[in-house]
Amino acid sequence: MAAHVIVLAAGEGKRMKSDLPKVAHPVLGKPLLGWVIDATSDLDPASITVVVGHGADQVREILPEATNTALQAERLGTGHATQIGLDAAEGISGDDVVVVLYGDTPLLTPGLIAELANLSEDETGRLISADVEDPTGYGRVIRAEGGSVGGIVEHRDCTPEQLKINEMNAGLYAIRANHLIESLENVTNDNVQGEYYLTDVVGLLVAEGHKLSAIKTTPEEVMGINSQDQLAEARRELQRRINTELMRSGVAILDPDRTYIDESVSVAPGATIYPGTHLEGSTSVAAGARIGPDVFAVDTSIGADSTVWYAVLRGAEIGAGCEVGPYASLRPGTVLEAGSKIGTFVETKNTTMAEDSKANHLAYLGDAIVGARTNVGAGVVTVNYDGVDKSKTEIGEDAFIGSDTMLVAPIKIGDRATTGAGSVITKDVDDDALAVERSGQKEIPGYSSRRAARKAAKDAKD
Ligand code: UD1
Ligand code: CA
Repeated sequence: MAAHVIVLAAGEGKRMKSDLPKVAHPVLGKPLLGWVIDATSDLDPASITVVVGHGADQVREILPEATNTALQAERLGTGHATQIGLDAAEGISGDDVVVVLYGDTPLLTPGLIAELANLSEDETGRLISADVEDPTGYGRVIRAEGGSVGGIVEHRDCTPEQLKINEMNAGLYAIRANHLIESLENVTNDNVQGEYYLTDVVGLLVAEGHKLSAIKTTPEEVMGINSQDQLAEARRELQRRINTELMRSGVAILDPDRTYIDESVSVAPGATIYPGTHLEGSTSVAAGARIGPDVFAVDTSIGADSTVWYAVLRGAEIGAGCEVGPYASLRPGTVLEAGSKIGTFVETKNTTMAEDSKANHLAYLGDAIVGARTNVGAGVVTVNYDGVDKSKTEIGEDAFIGSDTMLVAPIKIGDRATTGAGSVITKDVDDDALAVERSGQKEIPGYSSRRAARKAAKDAKD
């Protein structure tokens, strides 16, 4: 027996008020639909088919490669959508189990989905329900004698008595394939909304003597996302799960409510994360590193025992024992080798800082290589762009770039070379040399007293 998953995701999601299809909205680096698909991991289904409709092309783009799609051109109801999914799914045989999910319920857990599909011999199907305070709008689970499921009645089709039932149908089912296929043929659109209801399958099967049961979960776990505020609620919960898992593995997170880590990020045990930290994409943090407060890092690796605070890191590689910040911007192609330091108001791009080199204050380093143990002074700029071409700056080892040096690239500064403060360096500098570019200092004696006299004369006239 194999399990096949059909995910209904043709709806528009009008209340999101967004051009992006609802299920494509990202939450912690993964679209809503991705969270649903990943919740089938324990189930390990033989196939996953996503029924797309609204924004079909955009939804197809965000799907993992191994998923099929089926196009529901006209949305005639959940029963119709499931039928279209079944028609497109491959390799379903009669005794397989078909699991139907919605694409907008990102809080589902793998354990629940596996349990849903784990039908016992005498069961034809299972569904998921939850007791909610206000079930308005939801289908109600009607219980038969003995507690098994008797059917589902949509809110708009409920009798006044049925409206009082608080057990809502979450819309998630596992049903044996042959019985699902047969009973879908008998579903009509003869109801208040004129739709083909998947929920009718439940009542039809029960009427034929099949046994179906319901697993109750919390309303939170089956929460469907329909609006931006619900999306934020889901994001909070998923973030809480990620942070809890990290803390249990040995990561110190000082304030998990103010720490934002994508699922794709890896943080090693022994790292410390201060509040206001956002870690995204393929970012990784090694043991002993201290990140934050207020760090934004995307696709950046941070080595062991490094400290990064008040910084923006994009596509950077930070080695072990480095220091970054406060107030630093590391742009793509930045490589900090072990023990190097980027300090306050320093921006780097496509630049390698070799071991133990430093740029502590107010510098721009672009398209540069800075040699080991070299010190880059305050206010240094690699003048790498002449408006047409970008050029490289190469600085050797143990060099000393004086404060406010302009390095007009392309340029090479030798090992152990020094540049004088305030110099505009346009020619290569040899190893061990000092290069100074400055006009000689002039001194004009008695200047202040002459100025004071001039001011006094002017005041007397006024
Ligand atoms: C459905 C259930 C209801 C349950 C509720 C839980 C039916 C008839 N009713 O309500 O018992 O309490 O879910 O949220 O099934 N979809 C399609 N194609 C369609 C129609 C829907 O793909 O033609 C998708 C939607 O994108 C959505 C999901 O199916 O992800 C549910 O549709 P929605 O209209 O929100 O559910 P209801 O029918 O109101
Ligand atoms: Ca100068």
